Amino acid sequence: MIDNRKIGEAAEKIRKSKYTVAFTGAGISVESGIPPFRGENGLWNKYDPIFVEIEYFHKKPLQSWKKIKEIFYDTFDEANPNAAHKILAKMGERGFLESIITQNIDNLHQKAGFKNVYELHGTSRTLSCTECSSEYDLSFVDLNFLPPTCYVCKGILKPDIVFFNEPIPQFALKRSFEEAKKSDVFIIIGTNAEVIPAADIPVAAKEHGATIIEINIEKSHFTDTITDIFLKAKAAEVLTELGKVLYL
Ligand code: APR
Repeated sequence: MIDNRKIGEAAEKIRKSKYTVAFTGAGISVESGIPPFRGENGLWNKYDPIFVEIEYFHKKPLQSWKKIKEIFYDTFDEANPNAAHKILAKMGERGFLESIITQNIDNLHQKAGFKNVYELHGTSRTLSCTECSSEYDLSFVDLNFLPPTCYVCKGILKPDIVFFNEPIPQFALKRSFEEAKKSDVFIIIGTNAEVIPAADIPVAAKEHGATIIEINIEKSHFTDTITDIFLKAKAAEVLTELGKVLYL
């Protein structure tokens, strides 16, 4: 059950805000049919994350690619933005939201029409050759033949997602901290804040005086530490209610 008083409080903060930024995790895409990584139906309960560890990928590209295709690409193919992604895009159009920092690789914020997205963990939409670094849009790659190879040099292609033990894209990381420090309202949606350096970004927003609004179906590591307004419900439900109060 959504607390309408808290929805009103959050909407008031957003309405009066000069610079609102959203920070999203796997939870915002659950209602698009994409399972989260942790929690009840978490991917890491079913699969060993080793297949997205960078050394394993280089040693056993075919085994890694088979799992990557099954878990990410086959699921993402069917997935569409849900009400949460769409309301955030409308907030952007109406000037209520400046940027989105996401840990997700599903491209659903962009599919919903939001432009200013910083992808901390990369994207599944492009791939790069591990030999000659040629870059490919997914639409040019046939994943029926695994591992996919480079048209130029026949090297193995790797998705442009950040594997475990790989560095975070420095542009996205630097810009995300800048956006967090500039924000006066920071909305955390569907993340349990287990992974760093991503989890340091909402803390930076808090330290620079932002009001933290958190949307999650259960408490995260942020809730009892930095969160000011905790909206405990599904992201699509909360953002639909917020959208009504903001007359989106
Ligand atoms: N609405 C809102 N929140 C939800 C919903 C929902 N419908 N469903 C689940 N959640 C919440 C869960 O309670 C949890 O706090 O979303 C969060 C999902 O947590 P994770 O699966 O750990 O996802 P995330 O926090 O994005 O993981 C961060 O870990 O494995 C790495 O690179 C991977 O980007 C990922 C990173």
